[in-house]
Amino acid sequence: MCGIVGYIGQQKATPILLEGLKRLEYRGYDSAGIALLEDEGLKHEKSAGKVHMLERLLANRTFTSHIGIAHTRWATHGEPTDLNAHPQLDDTGNIAVVHNGIIENYRALREVLEREGHNLVSDTDTEVIAYLINMYYNGDLTEAVRMALSQVEGTYAIAVIDSRSPDKIVAARNGAPLLLGQGQGENFVASDVAAILRHTNKVAYIEDKEIVTLTADNYHISTIENVEISRKVEEINWSLEMIEKAGHDHFMHKEIHEQPETLRNATRGRLNIEEGTVRLNGLTDHLEDLSRIKRVIITACGTSWHAALIGEYLLEEYAQIPVEVEYASEFRYRSPIIDENTLVLVISQSGETADTLAAMREARRKGAKALGIVNVVGSTIARESDGGVYIHAGPEIGVASTKAFTSQIMVLSLITILLGRMRNISANMGKEMIEALESIPEKIQQILDNEIQIKEIAETYYKSNNFLYLGRGVNFPVALEGALKLKEISYIHAEGYPAAEMKHGPIALIDEKMPAVVIATKDSIYDKVMSNIAQVRARNGRVIAIATEGDAEIANHVNHVIFIPQIKQCFSPLLSVIPLQLLAYHMAVLRKCNIDQPRNLAKSVTVE
Ligand code: M6R
Repeated sequence: MCGIVGYIGQQKATPILLEGLKRLEYRGYDSAGIALLEDEGLKHEKSAGKVHMLERLLANRTFTSHIGIAHTRWATHGEPTDLNAHPQLDDTGNIAVVHNGIIENYRALREVLEREGHNLVSDTDTEVIAYLINMYYNGDLTEAVRMALSQVEGTYAIAVIDSRSPDKIVAARNGAPLLLGQGQGENFVASDVAAILRHTNKVAYIEDKEIVTLTADNYHISTIENVEISRKVEEINWSLEMIEKAGHDHFMHKEIHEQPETLRNATRGRLNIEEGTVRLNGLTDHLEDLSRIKRVIITACGTSWHAALIGEYLLEEYAQIPVEVEYASEFRYRSPIIDENTLVLVISQSGETADTLAAMREARRKGAKALGIVNVVGSTIARESDGGVYIHAGPEIGVASTKAFTSQIMVLSLITILLGRMRNISANMGKEMIEALESIPEKIQQILDNEIQIKEIAETYYKSNNFLYLGRGVNFPVALEGALKLKEISYIHAEGYPAAEMKHGPIALIDEKMPAVVIATKDSIYDKVMSNIAQVRARNGRVIAIATEGDAEIANHVNHVIFIPQIKQCFSPLLSVIPLQLLAYHMAVLRKCNIDQPRNLAKSVTVE
């Protein structure tokens, strides 16, 4: 989604802002722009397309400014054109605004402004904000922003500069992420820390309905109602290296290969092998509640929702607690039945997904305890939940989620052991589960070492237009995730299905042009999956099987086999998803797709 970066200090603003924009590219966008306060007044440049196009435009101009704001726009209102790109200006040309979010009452506001004779030129919902700020400007930019925002309904993170107040940036947030970065004699504002990490790791998170005014040496936070806020600056422990490609062609490839390490990080310091249980610091204050809950609702979107489905299998089997998994976008508009014995688990890599955040708020409003399973430290879901567990996967830059998915499953496995041990699983079983989890990183490495074979299979199939992904039991959500990965980055149509459901419809699609990827690991339903494979083969379908090492027989029944090491059945998704990530990656590379920034997608979906 849209990205914001702003700079005020002693250095030239343009290179800092352009670098910030490049670091925000992963969020997904379709146009970019910049506004600077030069001695002669406000200057701006914007362009549909990628940041390098903006950079090309800027190469013909000389800017010396030390204060500016910049933006990557993911179109919601109006096409991704130069005109609709941000910054949006008012008609005096003094004010520039960049915005992430949606102004819901912009039509009404626009009508009022037009009746007063203003000529708004873009199709965006953002432009009205610049006009409103100008309308209220009386020498105090912060006050004008406050007044303007009091008229606005909807979600926003904004940053504003005004040529009449050349020593400050004013920014505000309601429902879209925003943080300030503190440097020495310089300050930053940004949608996320990646944009400013080269310059500072000291950040303060801006909360909903707060306004921050930045000068080069200071910052001041207040609420929209003008109540002073004192906010402490925190140090982020992400390094620059973590947000760079480290020799890989794409972030997605790097992140797939990081999984042995990220999964070690997800368990580090949390396993208690002697007692066959786990210690999760973010849950220690909730142990009593956790021991009495009778029902769990897990809510999430996209890949995180697939992890939630795996959590359902784990929790029901080992903790014997009924679990419902809900799309956050649906949950927020239903009337879910929640009582004091219901635990709501909220899963989000970014911790900023608008639907997931709204679902969590709704659950808490209804009296539920909401615990987060989140990657980004300090994100809104992490801060607003009652507690939770960080997955510690490090920055995930590729839009297609990979390492966050496996780390989410790992954390769900740990929560399963914790809740299971409070209920019906023995210390021995807990120990066995922990040992299985400890073996995962090495087993993933073995699969990664076989990448060349997966790449060869991709070479055979990358021209296919359709794919079917089949799995059963705990590997059904993995089939969904494999299909999602392929769709997202290669634009090949792919369906994930429970293998046995295929005969109730999708079987009609099967012919020699419809490859099926089938997760056929040696487990309690292996024979059933083999029957499903036979049904595909009988209709000339081609099958790529993900099978368990040592299963010599399977090669006689399928076209290709990718072996994964043996593992306790309930944890097999942690292994079976790895070849599917690599298969999607290599097919997308062969199709020359934009791997890390697939068309139309945003990394963090901060609007509805
Ligand atoms: O940051 P979140 O985990 O809340 O994001 C949820 C989805 O938007 C996300 O998983 C999306 O489906 C990814 N593109 C998956 O690769």
